[in-house]
Amino acid sequence: MMKRANPLFIFPLVAMSLASCAPSLIYDNKDVDMRGTITSFKPGSVWRDVDGNVIQAHGGQIQMMPIPNEHGVKENKYVWVGENKTNGSRGDPVSLYWSDDLYNWHCGGEVMRTVEKREDLDEDPYFSSLYSSYTAAQKDNVYTILNKSAVVERPKMLYNAKNDNYVIWFHSDGPTPAHDFAYDAGCSGVAVSDSPFGPFRLIDRYRLNECPDDQFDCFPLSKGEARDMNLFQDDDGKAYIVYTSENNKTIYLSRLNEDYTYLDVDPKEAVHKRDFIRLFPSSMREAPALAKIEGRYYLMTSSTTGWASNVATCWSSDSLFGEWRSDGNPCVGEGSMFAFDTQSTCIFQASNGAWIYYGDRWNAKKIADSRYVWLPAKLNDGKLNIEWKSNWTY
Ligand code: GAL
Repeated sequence: MMKRANPLFIFPLVAMSLASCAPSLIYDNKDVDMRGTITSFKPGSVWRDVDGNVIQAHGGQIQMMPIPNEHGVKENKYVWVGENKTNGSRGDPVSLYWSDDLYNWHCGGEVMRTVEKREDLDEDPYFSSLYSSYTAAQKDNVYTILNKSAVVERPKMLYNAKNDNYVIWFHSDGPTPAHDFAYDAGCSGVAVSDSPFGPFRLIDRYRLNECPDDQFDCFPLSKGEARDMNLFQDDDGKAYIVYTSENNKTIYLSRLNEDYTYLDVDPKEAVHKRDFIRLFPSSMREAPALAKIEGRYYLMTSSTTGWASNVATCWSSDSLFGEWRSDGNPCVGEGSMFAFDTQSTCIFQASNGAWIYYGDRWNAKKIADSRYVWLPAKLNDGKLNIEWKSNWTY
């Protein structure tokens, strides 16, 4: 077996958080991919990192970005962030992995942790130094957003070249004083760090853009909702958040500011089709995955059936705030009506130019044992095409 680089040398913070990669569950599935150095994708099998621990990065995102090596010098690596669902589907920390080849992943630990008790924000050294400048009220807010019952889903990370820092956005949800319902807040949370390995400091969470007055709002009772979401960085460095709103009936796409920490234009001032766009009203789509392939934008989505898989739909457009064409189901062949038992989370490009679809195969009965399904994503007649492969290379 080839010798692998010891991830302990990568960065002190990584070493500090390595303990959090150890699995706390017994995985009883027989279909375990334990092949030493991995040289192909086996979608749906148990994927382990280079230390043999099961990869916990669901609802995630893969991209090439500069991250510091053992000397603190930035090198381009594939980075994978996602939900660590080891302890279920509430209060999930955000985990990070990195790789040189997309097959073999090194664990970078929990980069944004969630909080056990409100006192931890004052007493636990990790949190008390991270939030030392926060008032008690701001710490209360952090606890509301990152406590162990909160919804922390679909984390995505961008490298901000202007500030040389990293920004995570995630679906932040939970009950509100008005309704004791786990998905009542309907917000997007944002956190920043100087290092991709964290610790990420939560800034806040927000409702986002609202339906313009001259359009039919599918859910006027609750303005600016933002649930399943994704981030997209265009070639010009501008970044966007794409999210499901109006009680999951309508997708919105909004431009972020230069720091990537908030919308570029406040929702009260924002102009439709200049600062944001409302897409496919009343179509009930979520799990948005946006990619620019050969100069055209492709937005893949799922229907809204919780952890159960359903049929995917893709739209495409020549410009983000322009006209979007419905391209139908991008999945083809057997299993295509349920997206091969997956829900979209991202579409990314390998360094050789190949595009890859990454879907989550959720396991509602044992959520920590949800699986990753990566499949080749190709253009066929200008439309996105995804076909099942049980063992493949890019
Ligand atoms: C899905 C959503 C997931 C998670 C799940 C909870 O529809 O895409 O991210 O929120 O519901 O039931």
